[in-house]
Amino acid sequence: MKQKAGLEYASAFFSKDNSENYDHLVHYATFGMDSRWKKKILENVESDSIVLELACGTGILSAILSQAGNTVLGLDYTFSYLKVLKQKGIKIPVVNSTAELIPFRSTMFDYIITSYLPKYTTLDILINECFRLLKSGGMIILHDFTFPKYRLYKVAWEGYFKIISLLWRKDKRWKYVFDELDVLIRSSQWDLNVFEELEKLKFSQIHKRYLTFQTSAIITAIKP
Ligand SMILES: C[S@@+](CC[C@H](N)C(=O)[O-])C[C@H]1O[C@@H](n2cnc3c(N)ncnc32)[C@H](O)[C@@H]1O
Repeated sequence: MKQKAGLEYASAFFSKDNSENYDHLVHYATFGMDSRWKKKILENVESDSIVLELACGTGILSAILSQAGNTVLGLDYTFSYLKVLKQKGIKIPVVNSTAELIPFRSTMFDYIITSYLPKYTTLDILINECFRLLKSGGMIILHDFTFPKYRLYKVAWEGYFKIISLLWRKDKRWKYVFDELDVLIRSSQWDLNVFEELEKLKFSQIHKRYLTFQTSAIITAIKP
């Protein structure tokens, strides 16, 4: 099967057919880990900051960031996901755009944060855009699924993915996602490849933390 690239995945995975069911899916398919991971993301953010959340989707993380006392702007490619964010009463400005071409002026943000985007995107373009938009001393925070590195965790991940794929493929709104997601996570290696891009732009204090048996990672770095 030929692999898709960047926005092709976003268009194929996310639509108005599954936008209203997304929060339910992410909670159950990660066994509630998504909430924990998002709390870990927040631990890196000082309150009262100006935050851009890329690929904010239905606003699960935007709401947490906003409740923690930050000014949050959300950006997402899929309009129906932003519509759900608004229906949930999350009061932040949002932009329907791509994370690779962000319609804001340079050096505006203290933090640029994204959860579940890195594996879909062209990393060098994304990191360049983040560099442009961050203030000096600002922080980029990237979070996404990762394919475990330890053999034992790999075996457990394979088993876990087989089970959740069997279950969620029965739901036609998510069938396509679960036909392809494991291949994408396995091949992406964003958690390894992003280092080169961050280093090229002289980001400092690059820090990687694996979570829940290496099934996801948070990478943070500071713009010089
Ligand atoms: C799995 S959802 C994650 C939503 C949210 N970040 C969360 O943590 O729940 C992925 C989101 O990424 C968005 N997306 C994927 N590629 C994108 C891109 N290149 N630019 C902007 N949004 C993108 C999709 O539209 C979708 O809403």
